Amino acid sequence: MYNITLIDGDGIGPEITKSVVDIIDSTGIKINWDECLIGSRALEKYNKTLPDDTIKSIEKNKIALKAPSTTPIGEGFKSVNVELRRYFDLYANIRPSKNLPNIKTPFDNIDLVVIRENTQDIYAGLEEQVDNDTIHGIKLITRQGCERICNYAFKYAQENNRKKVTVVTKANISKLADGMFLKCFREVAKNYPSMETGEILIDNLCMQLVQNPSQFDVMVMPNLYGDIVSDLCAGLVGGLGIAQSANIGKDCAIFEAVHGSAPDIANKGIANPTGLLRSAVMMLNYINESTSAQKIENALFEVFKEGKFLTKDLKGNASTKEFSNEIIKKIRLL
Ligand code: NAI
Repeated sequence: MYNITLIDGDGIGPEITKSVVDIIDSTGIKINWDECLIGSRALEKYNKTLPDDTIKSIEKNKIALKAPSTTPIGEGFKSVNVELRRYFDLYANIRPSKNLPNIKTPFDNIDLVVIRENTQDIYAGLEEQVDNDTIHGIKLITRQGCERICNYAFKYAQENNRKKVTVVTKANISKLADGMFLKCFREVAKNYPSMETGEILIDNLCMQLVQNPSQFDVMVMPNLYGDIVSDLCAGLVGGLGIAQSANIGKDCAIFEAVHGSAPDIANKGIANPTGLLRSAVMMLNYINESTSAQKIENALFEVFKEGKFLTKDLKGNASTKEFSNEIIKKIRLL
């Protein structure tokens, strides 16, 4: 029996979480889900967006599955997602993008992994008001932060039989911060002589990705670029509804979809749970439950191959529940 913290988030969060938990349970694996709150719902109950109970649960279980949580835009409380990643020092964010069967996209040979530094950069939210009309935003990058994410990227590439790691920066302009990221990458690369390496500026990368994505393999980059580029990569293979991610630290890990709480489609029963489900597959592999992970992945691929029960974002007509029930049916047949 595993103890795993479960955060069902906001917007479409509770709908997709229910689907994913039902699918995982149908594999027969025994998980005790410790349900916790963050964000606005936590604020109502605990008067805090990241309550102590949630922190204690993740500290104890060392693993969490998390649905998206709403962050007010341009005002209000700071992102609890960012707070969680920093609190637990989840420094590596892994975001794979690979074509799925039957999902037509401009390219059919995409197999990319974005490895995003997850705790530093402008994303740390360090901003101050200098005067009424001037804001000072700080891009915080440390050598230790650059070295450990570059090390992680090479290790990941090696363990997953990848051929090439490309570093993505804007070191022509951000000569100090991105310059240090690039230098650390070059240093770390020396320890992996058999791994092919590449260097590219973020603006050129975006153009190259939409013209010829298969030239890339594993890409490592600072936080903000990783946030943006991984959405682009999700778009290349079918959209945000299918994109998964893992936030990995030394002691614990939180698995979540790449997308947000999608308030535009919340409570309509049409959200695609695939992103969160594939994040759960990453989680099961992480805890060495590869049999359950494989069952889910096989069933998911079957449902995609048949193409009869896809959700609206993938041009289908199935509801969240119909899509999930189809996966559960397939798992039972396996
Ligand atoms: P979003 O990712 O929630 O939505 C962007 C578009 O993708 C929308 O049209 C939405 O309907 C669609 N979409 C996203 N997930 C989908 C799914 N599973 N199935 C079908 N369609 C899906 O991004 P947006 O609207 O910019 O942000 C909404 C909120 O989510 C904001 O408060 C933002 O801060 C938060 N957010 C939270 C994240 C997290 O908890 N890790 C990550 C990104 C955003």
